[in-house]
Amino acid sequence: MNRAEWNKLAGTFEKNVCDISREETADQIRRYVDAAKIPKRGGVLVDMGCGIGSFILQHGHRFAEIVGVEYASSIIARAKRRCAGVSGVTWHTAGVEAAGKRIGPRADLTVCMNVITVPSAAKRGALWRGVSAVTKRGGHALVVVASLEAERMIQKVLGEEPATHPNGLVDHDGALQKHFTRDELADDFAHAGFAMKKIGKAFYPWSKEGLRPTPKLRKSPPWDWVALAQRL
Ligand SMILES: C[S@@+](CC[C@H](N)C(=O)[O-])C[C@H]1O[C@@H](n2cnc3c(N)ncnc32)[C@H](O)[C@@H]1O
Repeated sequence: MNRAEWNKLAGTFEKNVCDISREETADQIRRYVDAAKIPKRGGVLVDMGCGIGSFILQHGHRFAEIVGVEYASSIIARAKRRCAGVSGVTWHTAGVEAAGKRIGPRADLTVCMNVITVPSAAKRGALWRGVSAVTKRGGHALVVVASLEAERMIQKVLGEEPATHPNGLVDHDGALQKHFTRDELADDFAHAGFAMKKIGKAFYPWSKEGLRPTPKLRKSPPWDWVALAQRL
């Protein structure tokens, strides 16, 4: 999806977008933030592709300074309104790729959740470099990506023919979206200059996949990969 397409979703973001920090069901994101050991004083958060600001709303109070980066102007406008009560926030209507030049390597924690989705490997490389560029050495990055393993599980549940998904590209309503295997996420993080600390599943409700959860389905919900790594 491009910037214009994201802008069109601003008004219905909660309904149409999986906003993982609001929707995950096992409180994993908080545990990963805890594991990042944010300094008690003066901690800096950079949220790359912050959407309507859900992570900042939930976890912003743990930081002295917060930078929200989002390229869709109608979406960042909603983030600003929703986060009006959070202090110390600076907003950049900008691409993740170029944010490093504006912000510099300052983040104790960089988050980038469900933003690295573009089909082009070169464009994903630029997003990873953006994440790296704003994270200070020894700081952490928390990245959430769509899981290819979960996609295969969902297909099975839906009784669909197993698709091959070349290069992890999955068709979502006519738009190709990159899905990562667990190993691929670890490799990309390492390539961006990080040492992996923790990688796991951030579960979200079946309703996001358009399914009514039966008791059986409830036991095995779909998930995104969530990973925490330290900048070398
Ligand atoms: C799936 S939403 C996730 C939002 C938020 N991180 C969350 O987890 O709720 C992806 C967001 O990233 C933004 N985005 C996508 N590519 C971007 C880029 N290259 N630079 C800045 N923002 C981007 C979109 O506009 C959208 O708001």
